[in-house]
Amino acid sequence: MSDTASITQTIQDCYGQVANGSLSGRNAGVAAIAKAFGYSEAELTAVPAAANMGLSCGNPTAMASLRPGETVVDLGCGGGLDVFLASQKVGPAGKAIGIDMTPAMIERARLSAAQGPDGKPFSNVAFYLAEIHAIPLLGESVDCVISNCVINLAPDKAAVFREIARILKPAGRVAISDIALKKPLPEELAGSIAAWVGCISGAVLMADYRQSLLDAGFAQVNVVDSGTDLNAYGSVGKQTACCSPSMTTAAAKTAVTLPIRETGCCGAPQPSVHENLAELARKYDLNEYAASVKVYAIKPQA
Ligand SMILES: C[S@@+](CC[C@H](N)C(=O)[O-])C[C@H]1O[C@@H](n2cnc3c(N)ncnc32)[C@H](O)[C@@H]1O
Repeated sequence: MSDTASITQTIQDCYGQVANGSLSGRNAGVAAIAKAFGYSEAELTAVPAAANMGLSCGNPTAMASLRPGETVVDLGCGGGLDVFLASQKVGPAGKAIGIDMTPAMIERARLSAAQGPDGKPFSNVAFYLAEIHAIPLLGESVDCVISNCVINLAPDKAAVFREIARILKPAGRVAISDIALKKPLPEELAGSIAAWVGCISGAVLMADYRQSLLDAGFAQVNVVDSGTDLNAYGSVGKQTACCSPSMTTAAAKTAVTLPIRETGCCGAPQPSVHENLAELARKYDLNEYAASVKVYAIKPQA
């Protein structure tokens, strides 16, 4: 298995476990993460609780200026949190589409779409199982692409940005929340699959993020540090979603090294995505190396 296939499989395993787990917006730690990354109480109560698993690092629909009638696509939609928020902004004449490569995430999102926050299904959403470098949508069919804490996970970010450029209409826009690096990571973190799955070691430097978008043809590219505290993930650390039992400090010290399918997140016994992040946050000041960033870009007119 190639390094890329190995990373992809490990991400699917780990996030599949989260999707099949019991974490939801009803969990106090999950709600705390969402609020720390910019969601209001009103937003969180307007979506099905199952859509929120505490996996976000920002609130992209808050910065996307979505308008009624628009088509918006959320890359790596997870349980559909941002798709459901977007669907309310684009209204019945618009469409909110979620893309995710993890089958259990798509199933969970579709179930939430059918149930709605109050038993009434969402009528203007769709969820597709796909990788974000090969999106099953027509070219120039989308007004806005959003994403929340996903592109850092993608092994080939340039391919993802090219795909975003393909599906956007001319003058279409990008409003992404993601993790990017302020400076290179220490070797242990950089080589850790736990840190990759936890959205840290797959991240690139902020300047490189910006350059990749420019290389894909985007204009008015801005990658801005949101200033949010990445240690917020620690608040859900012991509430297992993925694999039990919890990672011990000793286990963390022998942190696995890329590429390692066999010892990935969900081999037994392994920690959850949140436990991994909490452990990394205990060992390192993540804010020193990485930032939750807001990314804006425009596809130029033809
Ligand atoms: C950190 S979670 C974020 C989920 C969601 N955006 C949220 O804020 O709740 C990352 C999600 O991206 C998905 N993902 C990661 N890499 C992907 C890829 N290359 N293609 C499609 N989905 C991907 C995972 O399956 C997972 O659901």
